[in-house]
Amino acid sequence: MNRKVLVTGGAGYIGSHTTVELINAGYEVIIVDNFSNSDPSSLEGVERITGVKPTFIEVDCCDKEALRKVFEAHDFMSVIHFAAYKAVGESVEKPLMYYRNNMLSLINVLDLMSEYNRPNIVFSSSATVYGDADVLPVTELTPRKPATSAYGNTKQMAEDILRDATAASATLHGIALRYFNPIGAHPSALIGELPRGVPNNLVPYITQTAAGVRECLSIFGDDYATPDGSCQRDFIDIVDLARAHVVAIGRMVEGRSKSQYEVFNVGTGRPVSVFELVNGFEKANNLKLNYKIAARRSGDVPAVWADTTLANEELGWKAERELNDTLRAAWMWEKHVRGIE
Ligand code: NAD
Ligand code: WQD
Repeated sequence: MNRKVLVTGGAGYIGSHTTVELINAGYEVIIVDNFSNSDPSSLEGVERITGVKPTFIEVDCCDKEALRKVFEAHDFMSVIHFAAYKAVGESVEKPLMYYRNNMLSLINVLDLMSEYNRPNIVFSSSATVYGDADVLPVTELTPRKPATSAYGNTKQMAEDILRDATAASATLHGIALRYFNPIGAHPSALIGELPRGVPNNLVPYITQTAAGVRECLSIFGDDYATPDGSCQRDFIDIVDLARAHVVAIGRMVEGRSKSQYEVFNVGTGRPVSVFELVNGFEKANNLKLNYKIAARRSGDVPAVWADTTLANEELGWKAERELNDTLRAAWMWEKHVRGIE
């Protein structure tokens, strides 16, 4: 059985944690990344955690000929495609940059997989495809809503491309994993999320506020029609999320897919509000956070969380880590980055 996996965007947040879990599960990982939103420190972290130095090649996936060399040199049968830009707000300001990077990189990967007969791909999709869903929790059959950002649109289009490419091929198998809100860091605090500039996402903003890098967290809205007035999300621990990729790859490599294109929600199935998350962070780490209530952020949906039945029963994956531990790991990582303690 071929246990080699090409991981595009493997130096990034989810890619580096997934690489660790793949190595722990006995896979050999080949990483390509162009460091557009990461740096080599994550690769060093992976090596320190696992004792294994994954093969790394600096490649822009939009450069098909450079990527071709990787396919020529390595006989992996599976690909996990993380490489993409992911900032929702930036994508509204620079849509072409997002369409070019996210679509071209995927098409290049699929073209080369077809040309070199590499049958399995896991794609990073997102709960953003559900938009403001009419019924919660969302299942994989919940209709997607029209995207409200170029970023969200790249995920919808990428899913469609994958569906069509698998339908047109006798051998290609694809699994789209729809991630909810990935948070936290590896418990070793040797790898984690490294946002550039002011964080857009809640947990990095919280940890940077706790570290004194940001003065005060703004909670965007306390007047939503939710139990405590703040938004609700499905926060999924990064190590649990990473493990879902290992399970998805195993499913394809071992020929257990039920169809050539499958979609799974990757969440906990539990809604947690912004207030609950902030209070949870304070309790888990025994500290007080400076925060204030601010206006709603445009584009935010009031609530979204996953129905995880399909992932649990069909994929055979379940979120396991306690939110407390996740929030402790997030703070340990921030302290590691800032050299605190
Ligand atoms: P990240 O920015 O940390 O990782 C992405 C990696 O891809 C980075 O290391 C970046 O340098 C690299 N990259 C980008 N474009 C590239 C290109 N053309 N060629 C080579 N490398 C390239 O982001 P992440 O949080 O790890 O996200 C990984 C994937 O998961 C992305 O596709 C993202 O859209 C998706 N996703 C993320 C979240 C989230 O909240 N983090 C949620 C849902 C889906
Ligand atoms: C969570 C909640 C904010 C920051 C985004 C993308 C989504 C997916 C995951 C890629 C919201 C509130 C946040 C802050 C706050 N990524 N918040 N103060 O928006 O659910 O999802 O990341 O696919 O596509 O949209 O995550 O972490 O930005 O926000 O009050 O400083 O925290 O309003 O309710 P979001 P988030």
